[in-house]
Amino acid sequence: MTDRFSFTLDATDGKARTGRIDTPRGTIRTPAFMPVGTAATVKAMLPESVRATGADILLGNTYHLMLRPGAERIARLGGLHRFMNWDRPILTDSGGFQVMSLAGLRKLTEEGVTFASHIDGSKHMLSPETSMEIQRLLGSDIVMCFDECPALPADKQTVAASMRMSMRWAQRSRDAFGDRPGHALFGIMQGGVTRELREESAEALKAIGFDGYAIGGLAVGEGQEAMFGVLDYAPGCLPADKPRYLMGVGKPDDIVGAVQRGVDMMDCVLPSRSGRTGQAWTRRGQLNIKNARHADDPRPLDADCSCPACTGYSRAYLHHVFRAQEMISGMLLTWHNLHYFQELMAGLRAAIAAGMLDDFVADFHAQRAGGDI
Ligand code: GUN
Ligand code: ZN
Repeated sequence: MTDRFSFTLDATDGKARTGRIDTPRGTIRTPAFMPVGTAATVKAMLPESVRATGADILLGNTYHLMLRPGAERIARLGGLHRFMNWDRPILTDSGGFQVMSLAGLRKLTEEGVTFASHIDGSKHMLSPETSMEIQRLLGSDIVMCFDECPALPADKQTVAASMRMSMRWAQRSRDAFGDRPGHALFGIMQGGVTRELREESAEALKAIGFDGYAIGGLAVGEGQEAMFGVLDYAPGCLPADKPRYLMGVGKPDDIVGAVQRGVDMMDCVLPSRSGRTGQAWTRRGQLNIKNARHADDPRPLDADCSCPACTGYSRAYLHHVFRAQEMISGMLLTWHNLHYFQELMAGLRAAIAAGMLDDFVADFHAQRAGGDI
């Protein structure tokens, strides 16, 4: 155990990297996938079950927790780790992105954003300073800068002005965060799909100096080709000796492409959210368990998967409990999906360490091209 936050690279293969982030609450093996625990829970999962899938770190949300149950209350109850019974690292997003997608009436100024809660309409305000304070009260291990991600489509002038404000907010976030040994502050690159804006953003963040660097403003509807277009150069604009986090990504093939391009951390609601709608992700592709063709199928979801859903239950059972809206449906499918995503990350890490990433990626695509699953 360490009392400081540090990043160690163990191996590279092309642009891909594998290593570890050491924190006082444990080690994060990279490339890492972070399950999303928005409201102090990864929905349908006990924390020990999330850990059993292989997760080293969870993501929490400033926006949701400040509204319900409130950051001060969580602090009084011993902090977010204690509150949700997860003692390993937690990264918290800073709130601005969620305000823009979830809140009612909002007003954005240089100072910050005022908005109406999506829960009860009550008025709140977030700024770099209040976001840092809330993330401190939560006890987050990796704190994200307060930023703005412009809604698409947006013209270049709008994206440029927004990015520059996010960079001023990054400086204010850095100043408000202060010096907190064992806790990390990550900057967030913006700039849309314009290379010169991405480069300007990277330079601004590096001049401030952060413990890690996120790539924001992607996976917001631009499509995989445009996202990979940015990822072909954006990670290379960031310091090689600090972790790089691609926010809100993604599907398994997005994850593989991002890791090939030099990304170390990712998060996405996909495995947990889609598990609750009957969607299962497997090495052979995705399927929906509600489909009638599964009703009499005695086979497991994936015969090669060692998760509880696949070792104990048939597709017929999973189909039945989904149709009957039984709670175990979301529990089993979420477990399976998180297990699959973490196995994918473990496979990527091992392949990079062995210098065999190209073979791993070719096999990943070949297995999915097989047709019927
Ligand atoms: N989650 C996904 N994209 C973003 C982003 O651009 N900024 C923040 N703060 N969170 C995100
Ligand atoms: Zn499984």
